[in-house]
Amino acid sequence: MNNFTFQNPTRIHFGKGQIAAIANEIPANARILITYGGGSIKKNGTLDQVLAALENHSVQMFGGIEPNPSYENLMEAVELARKEKIDFLLAVGGGSVIDGTKFIAAAIHFEGEPWTILSEGAALGKVVPAGNVLTLPATGSESNSGAVVTRRSTKDKLPFMNSLVYPKFAVLDPETTYSLPAGQSANGVVDAFVHIMEQYLTVRDNAHMQDRYAEGQLLTLISEGPKVLEQPKDYGVRSTIMWTANQALNGLIGQGVPHDWATHMIGHELTAVHGIDHAQTLAIVLPPLMDKMRAQKAPKILQYAARVWGIQEGTDEERIDQAISKTRNFFESMGVKTRLGDYGITEKEIPVLIDQLERHGMSALGEGRDITLDISREILTNAL
Ligand code: NZQ
Ligand code: ZN
Repeated sequence: MNNFTFQNPTRIHFGKGQIAAIANEIPANARILITYGGGSIKKNGTLDQVLAALENHSVQMFGGIEPNPSYENLMEAVELARKEKIDFLLAVGGGSVIDGTKFIAAAIHFEGEPWTILSEGAALGKVVPAGNVLTLPATGSESNSGAVVTRRSTKDKLPFMNSLVYPKFAVLDPETTYSLPAGQSANGVVDAFVHIMEQYLTVRDNAHMQDRYAEGQLLTLISEGPKVLEQPKDYGVRSTIMWTANQALNGLIGQGVPHDWATHMIGHELTAVHGIDHAQTLAIVLPPLMDKMRAQKAPKILQYAARVWGIQEGTDEERIDQAISKTRNFFESMGVKTRLGDYGITEKEIPVLIDQLERHGMSALGEGRDITLDISREILTNAL
């Protein structure tokens, strides 16, 4: 196991009725900007609960943050926040709203061009404090220090990580997720599944607790994921999914172990160029990536095959094949298609995706830095 220093400072309020807790989380004299997306929080009653909790606070609103939030739009919120001297941000929505709000928080007092926070990982000065009410379990953004923002004009979808943007608090009320369309519920399960895989499916490194915890989370998503489609208003199922997606990317299982974020980095280009949903891109890329990197990852894929899918029979190669098929079939069973062709993408689109990876410095991905641009090209070709 590698050395690590870990602190996750986000306070979590989990469960029914917990939106009320935000009243005590935000200073009484704060000038609050509530940020939200396309309006789902108005239809499902979440915004009413938030406004009721904040009835004695000073509140302004910025709506219209889109899926895969755009720099262009977020900068309008930054201008508003500067003009109104906002000193607390409250994101109400899914990963896009929470990510976008982290960027706004970082950009308000940033001196210089805020895009450099993403393009150069520029150091942050004063960051406006932010909390959130999560409505879509998927990204883990509600209690991690990462965010992903897209610059539409240049088709750049870039992540940044900075401990200064950890949310101060997160409210996870599973009832807010009852209104999710089936496709978004499924996306959430797949995104969380792949987050776990990218911190787990690397090399064996005596990190037994991280392995067992990751395997427990994968097993939970495999058993409970399909239920969310059949019983969308089952509180127990929604709670389990919401807590699992949170644990998948709150930093804990990734401590002390190698990571392989290649599936995400290749997936981000598919979203930037073709607008495919984030989780759909992951379902496309992960199976052929496992196949292409099967030699390097063999011990871990065999462990995954045995402990997560109960695969015991056959040669090593046969068990690896079965583990890849099980993974693909799980995504398909959630209704998330796993082939580029399912999204209308053909071989002629691949060079542009490789150019994008090159432009973004993504030419040595994976735990061994051995997923070169040529390997990424093969992975995408095998995803057709
Ligand atoms: O905009 P509204 O009207 O709210 O509708 C949203 C949106 O259309 C809808 N939705 C959310 N909660 C709902 C709901 N509809 C009905 N009922 C509810 N309770 O769902 C749609 C998708 O929302 P979005 O926030 O875009 O989805 P998600 O949470 O999957 O976030 C995706 C973004 O997160 C980034 C992705 O790259 C992508 O930009 N990621 C962030 C990460 C992080 N910060 O750590 C890690 C992830 O790997 C990921 O990269
Ligand atoms: Zn993700």
